[in-house]
Amino acid sequence: MSSAKKQKMNGGALMRNVFDILIARKSAREYDPRVVSIEIVREVLKDAGRAPSSKNTQPWLVAYLSGQPLEELRRKMCGAFETGLPADFEIDSGTFEAYLPRAKKLGKDIFAWKGIDREDLEKRHLHAKENFRFFGANQIFIVAVRKEACNEKAIFDVGIFSAYLMLALESRELGSCPQMSTLAYPQILRDAIPDSENWLPLLTLPFGYPKKGSHLNEFETEREPLGSWAFEVVGK
Ligand SMILES: Cc1cc2nc3c(=O)[nH]c(=O)nc-3n(C[C@H](O)[C@H](O)[C@H](O)COP(=O)(O)O)c2cc1C
Repeated sequence: MSSAKKQKMNGGALMRNVFDILIARKSAREYDPRVVSIEIVREVLKDAGRAPSSKNTQPWLVAYLSGQPLEELRRKMCGAFETGLPADFEIDSGTFEAYLPRAKKLGKDIFAWKGIDREDLEKRHLHAKENFRFFGANQIFIVAVRKEACNEKAIFDVGIFSAYLMLALESRELGSCPQMSTLAYPQILRDAIPDSENWLPLLTLPFGYPKKGSHLNEFETEREPLGSWAFEVVGK
């Protein structure tokens, strides 16, 4: 597709090269107060909807929340967290034992980056609470699947869709942070979305303009070396 056509398709906005987008995307956990326009939100959703899915079933459901409904949800989620409401995960959110060291390293690295001492329980509590505040973002997506359609295949498809969503945001220089910690309170998420009784939330995605000069957003995660997970099986 010619670049002129591509620009026209996206309302004239300058699109970034796909490789730049892949490399640039990382989780943003601090946002500036500007609200993303509904036109851009719709473009992002439309682009993400190009994600492939098994037999083109497109099993994803997405709710977009901003303004007062989001503030109400934020208040309820923080309330649940602060009062110690027991987590009620509806999907298995455990971590396979062999991967626990990676998860622990992420926690250690992010605490060090934020200057949080391991013993400082109050700061650790505030760090965890940020998830339920949706990192202060002015808009979020809740990504879900229909309960009765939920199987491994559908979750796989929704995962691919979610990656497309993050990259569609990044292409417009919008940051996001995928979250599963918030799935601790699936009914609170459903209560924020009309007619969503048969929704199974899989991910929340706060997004927006990343805060300029944010130390937190500069946090970089590492990746395992290729040799530990990619296996080349080639003939002579
Ligand atoms: C399915 C999924 C769930 C995640 N849940 C959370 C979460 O609850 N809170 C959080 O701060 N980050 C969460 N993350 C972000 C990961 O920690 C992050 O993607 C990973 O450390 C790699 O860093 P990067 O996104 O900056 O490349 C989640 C990511 C994914 C894909």
